Amino acid sequence: MEILQSAAALQAQTEKWRRDGQRIGLVPTMGALHAGHLQLVQAAAAENDVVVVSIFVNPTQFNNADDFRLYPRLPAADAALLAPAGCTALFLPSVEEMYPQPSRLRFDFGPLEQVMEGAHRPGHFNGVATVVSKLFHLGRPHRAYFGQKDLQQVAIIRQLVADLSFDLDLISFATVREADGLAMSSRNRRLSAEARKIAPRLYAALQLGAKLLAEGRSVDSVKEDVFRFLALEEAIKLEYFEVADARTLQPIEGCSTSQDTALCIAAWLAEVRLIDNVMLQKH
Ligand code: PAJ
Repeated sequence: MEILQSAAALQAQTEKWRRDGQRIGLVPTMGALHAGHLQLVQAAAAENDVVVVSIFVNPTQFNNADDFRLYPRLPAADAALLAPAGCTALFLPSVEEMYPQPSRLRFDFGPLEQVMEGAHRPGHFNGVATVVSKLFHLGRPHRAYFGQKDLQQVAIIRQLVADLSFDLDLISFATVREADGLAMSSRNRRLSAEARKIAPRLYAALQLGAKLLAEGRSVDSVKEDVFRFLALEEAIKLEYFEVADARTLQPIEGCSTSQDTALCIAAWLAEVRLIDNVMLQKH
């Protein structure tokens, strides 16, 4: 596995691969890799000739300085996991390499970013769209891989690909969970032992909500039950629990749910913010 640190090196490498007729898979990450990331790398290795994984803790998508400062950074451990998963080249740029000048780019994704993560993390998706656009230009992938754990991110990137005519297939994979249901996340490493014990309640709340909706209950009454369930645990500070269309992310009202309905949650456990979502299983 090669390690590339400059944008020019990645560009030169992917240009050569393209000339040689190699299919390129790209997996953008911020590192502190876990099985959720590795699932994407393995899928990319199975479906492409070469796989680029980027690890870059992207400052422009953090709206909280502590979150950026404390984000786990483990490049050596990550590199050791990537080669056996089928990564051909690890792109590990510095902030200066990715942002030679402060970026003034502004994206507007309209209603897609006016809800949930977009509403609670001002500027977040602008930073995601900026860095992902740069990675798409530098890596020129045929396929790019993302996780449904970040459902709104997938929807935003889908719109980005369409708006900027990126010639690639966007592929998304289901959320990988710990045995107790907690969605894997790099931020889980920051949970105290106490917080780690109660963190699976977020998934339990989503499952409860999904069960009640599948029984035909209205969104409002389900929300009340889910709020009550989460209020039992003082250490969980709920930021939002939403029932939304999985593609448009717009809220669903009443009982008009479908197979494409997603239940989404964001909450703080002490100083760590976690998100998760599930799709509604309708019978
Ligand atoms: P990061 O949080 O490192 O996630 C990288 C990719 O892994 C994302 O597509 C994310 O949805 C996916 N992922 C994370 N946890 C997962 C899980 N438990 N199961 C399945 N997939 C999971 O998302 C980002 O980085 C950044 O915003 C990025 C796209 C790299 C832009 O900076």
